[in-house]
Amino acid sequence: MPRFLSATPDSGLIPLPWSLPLADWPESDLVALPRGISRHVVRFIRVGTSVYAAKELIEHAALHEYRMLQDLSRLDAPAVEPIAVVTCRLDADGLPLDPVLLTRHLEFSLPYRSLFYSGVRQETVSRLLDALVVLLVRLHNIGFLWGDVSLSNALFRRDAGQFAAYLVDAETSEIHDRLSDGQREHDLEIATTNLFGEFCDLESGRLLDASLDPADLVEQIRTRYDALWSELTGVEEFGGGELHRIENRVRRLNSLGFDVAELEVTTAPDGSTIRIQPKVVDAGHHTRRLLRLTGLDVEENQARRLLNDLDTFRARTGQQHADEAVVAHQWLHECFESVVRAIPPELRGKRDPAQLFHEVLDYRWYASQRLNYEVPLSDAVQGYIHDVLRGLPDEVMSADVAMPPEEAQLLNPFDPSQGFADDDEEPPFDPWEASATSPDAELLPDYLDIEALRRRSQG
Ligand SMILES: Nc1ncnc2c1ncn2[C@@H]1O[C@H](COP(=O)(O)OP(=O)(O)OP(=O)(O)O)[C@@H](O)[C@H]1O
Ligand SMILES: [Mg+2]
Repeated sequence: MPRFLSATPDSGLIPLPWSLPLADWPESDLVALPRGISRHVVRFIRVGTSVYAAKELIEHAALHEYRMLQDLSRLDAPAVEPIAVVTCRLDADGLPLDPVLLTRHLEFSLPYRSLFYSGVRQETVSRLLDALVVLLVRLHNIGFLWGDVSLSNALFRRDAGQFAAYLVDAETSEIHDRLSDGQREHDLEIATTNLFGEFCDLESGRLLDASLDPADLVEQIRTRYDALWSELTGVEEFGGGELHRIENRVRRLNSLGFDVAELEVTTAPDGSTIRIQPKVVDAGHHTRRLLRLTGLDVEENQARRLLNDLDTFRARTGQQHADEAVVAHQWLHECFESVVRAIPPELRGKRDPAQLFHEVLDYRWYASQRLNYEVPLSDAVQGYIHDVLRGLPDEVMSADVAMPPEEAQLLNPFDPSQGFADDDEEPPFDPWEASATSPDAELLPDYLDIEALRRRSQG
């Protein structure tokens, strides 16, 4: 009899064919979804309305990974959610089979390879790297040593114009009270080596644009990591007359998406100098604020974008002095939900609701520029559905999508590591990529810079 170790048991798991090696499971229990490269046998299985990722691996490793993922989930870090470890499996001849680790399938997540195709623009690659760096900094900040940092051990979700990265493979990781500089350095070195290999691999498969050099790309990891780490943890010293710099620091951290839970402020006995250092910072500044106001739980940059729209709504409806929670409720109903409701059900699998809303806002902005008047939201949604959404590939990858989109026919849909049936096919057309591929298109900064958007749209 198999044994289930689980904090959130799902009785639907019990009747599954545990006496078969995962590689031999019948297709009726599996879901074909895109997936990254892995050494172990990994399959997606459907249980009722849930989809889980199942990975077959030795007991010690399965239990370790399960516990690490549980710790991450308790610490609210971006990682896949552990569901169970199934041990004591025996095959039909009574011989032992390796345990299976089950995690919840991360909806709307993309393995990095599905974001690469020939001609993918530099900005996209940079944003992917940024997302990985933010993930690494967040993990290090809570004392988590990843040990096997790589693109294929992360999953990416669209997050407004950026990506949000999630940890998917915690087999080699360790958790400590805090990490030493040497430990962080260790992870960074592994990141550099692994990503260099992954970029070279993409290059040799002609999936990396010729203008991108693997060595330059991996160099960016360290630069960005160091910049973010020192902003989060660095000491700042200034004269006693510059007290506003304390607030500046907090605001800078907020705009990077972090809340300061504890800031150490030391003053020289004569008050001439002040020294500040953030001691505890929590990611998710905008996510938390939006959740508090509207109950929507979205990614950090999506939250930032939605909050901006909420502010605009408040100004447009002349409610600057009204209670924020009341206005938020109105905005949720009249703007956000009205857009989501307008999307035909068969197209909802293409983007998560917050991402849809963000893309409709972008669409409306460009349309308003072109037409020289403010296009109403209801018209913008219809235009977006017609001009953009219908042409996008499905990204939902949830319980109701059984097969990958037709344009990506895998040799064996249940084992994507075997590759595509026809590797020469055209990549799917993504108008968001296409609109920005012009060589002289100005690179947009990481925050919503209306001036830059205006310049770009005027081309
Ligand atoms: N919960 C999940 N949601 C979505 N995709 C997942 C999930 N778990 C695993 N995957 C997919 O399966 C792939 C392989 O998983 P994982 O990295 O854990 O396997 P592995 O064999 O341990 O890898 P490695 O070769 O690095 O040891 C991931 O890249 C990811 O694409
Ligand atoms: Mg892996």
